[in-house]
Amino acid sequence: MNPRQFHAIAFSGSLRDESTNTALVLLAQRLAPPELQITVIDWVDQLPWVNPDLEADPPEVLQRWWQQLRSADALLVGMPEHNAHPTALAKNALDWATRPPQDRAIAGKVVAFLSAAGRSGGANAQATFARVLQHYGAVVVDEPRVQLSHIAGRIAADGTTDDEEIVEAVNAKLRAVLAALTAHNETLVL
Ligand SMILES: Cc1cc2nc3c(=O)[nH]c(=O)nc-3n(C[C@H](O)[C@H](O)[C@H](O)COP(=O)(O)O)c2cc1C
Repeated sequence: MNPRQFHAIAFSGSLRDESTNTALVLLAQRLAPPELQITVIDWVDQLPWVNPDLEADPPEVLQRWWQQLRSADALLVGMPEHNAHPTALAKNALDWATRPPQDRAIAGKVVAFLSAAGRSGGANAQATFARVLQHYGAVVVDEPRVQLSHIAGRIAADGTTDDEEIVEAVNAKLRAVLAALTAHNETLVL
């Protein structure tokens, strides 16, 4: 029997043209094994600021975000860190992912963070969401951590790199995501 094909969506929490977090997401897309297809979403900046009033009649872009999440098995986030927190862009997209409260879009999804940041490597930004998303029914793949410090110059904006540390870190995370998806899927089938 062929192994199951899983689908992940991915976004970057940085809007910079030369973003290293966007580069990590694009590298993950390129390195993904055949069992894991990754679609990169580059329009989360078009989501409105979180405002529960909008949930009564959600704008098209918010409906699209919820629909993409619901139809995916996993979510990968290129997670930069600003002042020890996720960037406003990442937080807004992830806050919306925890809505609406009666049917949270993030529930049941396997979630993984890939961070390129300063000295912290993005550890604080990742920690902000790891526990809360788990609380809302997501399966957060913490280990192995992708928390890279000061990698500008070691990866191109399109995600190409021959830096073995970066490639191995992303590959190891992808293996862990696939293992979590397989285990999660088996739990659902049993
Ligand atoms: C306003 C601001 C605050 C930052 N705060 C942190 C921080 O708390 N921890 C850290 O490791 N890096 C920090 N940095 C460095 C960023 O994490 C780094 O510039 C960013 O992750 C690079 O991401 P990008 O290449 O994807 O744009 C900060 C950068 C900015 C602009």
